[in-house]
Amino acid sequence: MDYTILGNTQMKVSTLCLGTMYFGTRTAEATAYQLLDQYIDAGGTFLDTANCYAFWVDNGIGNESEEVIGRWMLARNNRDNIILATKVGCRPAFVGAEFPRLAQSLTADVIIHDVEQSLQRLRTDYIDLYYAHRDDQATPLEETLEAFARLIQAGKIRQIGCSNIAMWRIERAKQIARSHDWPEYCCTQLRHTLLRRNRGADTDIQVVVDDQHLDYCATQPDLTLLAYSALLSGAYTRTDRPVPSEYQSHDTEARLSVLRTAAQETGATPNQVVLAWMMQGEPAIIPIIAASTSEQLQENLDAQQVTLSPEQLHALTYTTGEFGSGK
Ligand SMILES: NC(=O)c1ccc[n+]([C@@H]2O[C@H](COP(=O)([O-])OP(=O)(O)OC[C@H]3O[C@@H](n4cnc5c(N)ncnc54)[C@H](OP(=O)(O)O)[C@@H]3O)[C@@H](O)[C@H]2O)c1
Repeated sequence: MDYTILGNTQMKVSTLCLGTMYFGTRTAEATAYQLLDQYIDAGGTFLDTANCYAFWVDNGIGNESEEVIGRWMLARNNRDNIILATKVGCRPAFVGAEFPRLAQSLTADVIIHDVEQSLQRLRTDYIDLYYAHRDDQATPLEETLEAFARLIQAGKIRQIGCSNIAMWRIERAKQIARSHDWPEYCCTQLRHTLLRRNRGADTDIQVVVDDQHLDYCATQPDLTLLAYSALLSGAYTRTDRPVPSEYQSHDTEARLSVLRTAAQETGATPNQVVLAWMMQGEPAIIPIIAASTSEQLQENLDAQQVTLSPEQLHALTYTTGEFGSGK
């Protein structure tokens, strides 16, 4: 496993992060423990959860993933070996609230209250990386950032990140944090994969990586980019998972064709090529891998073994369809 440093921090993380969104809901606790053990045995150190995973699943309330991780860390007595990331801001405002219209905000009250709930569920007294799960334009950035600064001061969280947010808002947050001498976001977590989203597609509160995010992260080492939904739920290899409609565009076939070629040339699977392309690209991106079986997880972990040539990286990055343009 390779390791890297998050943004402008000293925090070292493995270059594959493990997503745990369905642990305790779709993925039974015993299976979750196996997957967590397998990831740690492979050298992984970086776990991703949220205070709302996974409320949208039947019988889910949103506490399950954090609770499973908390019990697993207690059972393994390994809290100090984990870089633990969780998020605030995407829980329904109250049980049964219409989402996302009535999602929780990023006010100081919510943040200060919810961090305690997450700490309890995670059975720990600190969170390594605490994300604003989405942008909340109704709350002044000053209020959110000051609340995070207070939590860092109190030792409850170590670093902060942001998710589902436009690049201009991240930059504005940085300027505000600097002017107050508060901690800055060290990373951003966005939706990203090899296929490009159809420009007209609605992805709701999920924000897809765009050229501004890529340009910023390629040139400014103070912000690390993480990618979620990198494997499109398995659509690159599974016939039971068609490419989602929001990724169907004039680009799709051309980019899938380059992906198949790179897979043949390297002997890797298409999933592994997508993950390797992210890790070896410019900027280097940390994919948040997720799996519900040991075989899926192993395939994804083995992406670390795949080396892409400069020509392959170029083709994967720049290939467009007949009417395509841009990166
Ligand atoms: N910040 C945010 O707003 C946000 C949003 C979404 C996700 N996330 C984070 O990102 C993580 C990953 O998100 P995601 O679940 O959307 O990622 P994904 O990579 O698009 O989907 C993961 C699913 O793809 C299938 N899969 C994975 N590896 C496979 C393989 N090698 N072969 C075949 N199928 C495979 C599995 O589906 P089955 O289990 O159905 O077999 C797996 O559960 C989450 O756990 C969460 O931590 C963050």
